[in-house]
Amino acid sequence: MSLSFDDDVITPSRPAAAAAPQSAAAPAAPAMTSVSHAASANRVNAVDKKVINGTTDVNQLVPFKHKWAWEKYLAQCANHWMPQEVNMQRDIEQWKMGALTEDEMRIVKRNLGFFVTADSLAANNIVLGTYRQITSPECRQFLLRQAFDEAIHTHAYQYIVESLGLDEGEVFNAYNEVKSIRDKDEFLIPFIDILCDPEFKTGTLEADQQLLRSIIVFACLMEGLFFYVGFVQILALGRQNKMTGAAEQYQYILRDESMHCNFGIDLINTIKMENPLLWTEDFKNEIYGLFQKAVELEYAYAEDTMPRGVLGLNASQFKEYLRFIANRRLQQIGLNELFPGATNPFPWMSEMIDLKKEKNFFETRVTEYQTGGALSWD
Ligand SMILES: [Fe+2]
Ligand SMILES: [Fe+2]
Repeated sequence: MSLSFDDDVITPSRPAAAAAPQSAAAPAAPAMTSVSHAASANRVNAVDKKVINGTTDVNQLVPFKHKWAWEKYLAQCANHWMPQEVNMQRDIEQWKMGALTEDEMRIVKRNLGFFVTADSLAANNIVLGTYRQITSPECRQFLLRQAFDEAIHTHAYQYIVESLGLDEGEVFNAYNEVKSIRDKDEFLIPFIDILCDPEFKTGTLEADQQLLRSIIVFACLMEGLFFYVGFVQILALGRQNKMTGAAEQYQYILRDESMHCNFGIDLINTIKMENPLLWTEDFKNEIYGLFQKAVELEYAYAEDTMPRGVLGLNASQFKEYLRFIANRRLQQIGLNELFPGATNPFPWMSEMIDLKKEKNFFETRVTEYQTGGALSWD
């Protein structure tokens, strides 16, 4: 069984001939990166809309051009969930009664140590960085939903920390104090900081490549790779009937992140189509180097979290898994595999990504938002 990472992802093989003129070569009008409306009072024509450096009014959602972004926004709203709906009582009992081994507890603490701050970094990257550079209102609509998802994820991790009575100072400072976590964040933060610089703006070849590079790092390496050792570990605990509340929350988060990653890949491929001159050989080689480094960092994290085999897992399985995921991400953005022949040692993860709310894997409370509730006026 293969992982369904690439559901609904735009394939990178579309001909570049249909692309709009390269932004760096033709910066004819100022890009609409702020809240202001278009300089022109002309009605928006869908063909004029661009993901970056567009000059159409960012306040007019329709007519759609990037319909895939709107559809992902709707799908993500249908997946809405809240952490406090998950019952943590059994987890609390297991944690306090010593049902977990030392190695299992280390996994839980390391996981929370990484994730409690990672999703804040993700949220800040969206609202302070990426959002203002994106000139397609339908893509902005997804980013608004994604930012709220990241708030829910930080809430979920905090809810687990609070439920288990963990040392908050220790958990929230892990990204400063635990080397394997710090190293991952030090890799990511420069790519976030560049976009969050108030002076940063697109419109030159260099700046457009910088934005694209940061989006690739964020979608493919942060959300698409750095989260996966942690997801496998906690879901493996849940499969052994341990920490099922935490595992249920991680399952919802995994589904959200899978959608975020797919959106990011569509964003990357659309920017490539609309701006083909950005995709130079030097740029591609740089991206290969970043993938190589990210796999090394995530593998070091796997080794640190699992000094011995635990839950039927061991660090060397993760080496194969990370190579497999990296290959998939590279293919999804139109690059070649870095690790030919890598296979997936955790095929059960695909069931987790394909979670349907109405059939919860852990058979805990079913929550369903898709039907919604009608307002009553009387
Ligand atoms: Fe998240
Ligand atoms: Fe995310």
